[in-house]
Amino acid sequence: MMEKVKTIAVDGPSASGKSTVSKGVAKALGFIYVDSGALYRGVTWNAIRKGVDLRDDAAVAASMHGAAWDFFVQDGAAAFSVDGAVPVQELREKEVREAVAGVAAMPEVRRFVVENLQALAHFGSLVMEGRDIGTVVFPDSPCKFYLDADPEERAMRRYRELVAAGEDEKAHEVMDSLKRRDTIDTTRKTDPLKVADDAQVIDSTSMTLEEVIKKIVDAVTE
Ligand code: DC
Repeated sequence: MMEKVKTIAVDGPSASGKSTVSKGVAKALGFIYVDSGALYRGVTWNAIRKGVDLRDDAAVAASMHGAAWDFFVQDGAAAFSVDGAVPVQELREKEVREAVAGVAAMPEVRRFVVENLQALAHFGSLVMEGRDIGTVVFPDSPCKFYLDADPEERAMRRYRELVAAGEDEKAHEVMDSLKRRDTIDTTRKTDPLKVADDAQVIDSTSMTLEEVIKKIVDAVTE
């Protein structure tokens, strides 16, 4: 299967382990890792920075189209700049985290992000993580995986990540915020999170992320 593989799609809800798994698979196969959520976060960050009302779809779209976006590959991962700035930590800040699901539900934002994600294929073979990679961005990919885990396990993983990053969050607030995002991601009108018909579903609740990486690498290289 390897010769045909250009893009490996890894979809799933927040905190399902997609990032760690996708980075591990990309490293093992020498593919470029792409965090598609980062671009939705980038659009959100850019709008916040410009003082845009995030409930106003047209204003968010105008700030997005008015910015200069540049895409490149660094250390095996796709990255981007917005008006010359390369946001990384900024994309993880609470303000962005709380607003991004709403911005990612805007059809025009999704069109812009999907087109730019598709264009990344010219850099080489990709492992792309997201919510709609197998269903919308690369529907023809022969390698689609849908990673899931119980909500409690996902909330615990996210909580540990936030605490490790020095953020003072309460476990029940993390759970509530995750549930809120799950609801927005799965019920939005444009490209909601769903399992592609031909995706392999992996429930990682009682697996280590190393085991999940191996499962995907084995499936792709077999
Ligand atoms: O994976 P993440 O938490 O960085 O994603 C941020 C937001 O973007 C989240 O609300 C889901 C949305 N998203 C999306 O709608 N489609 C994608 N392919 C990736 C992320």
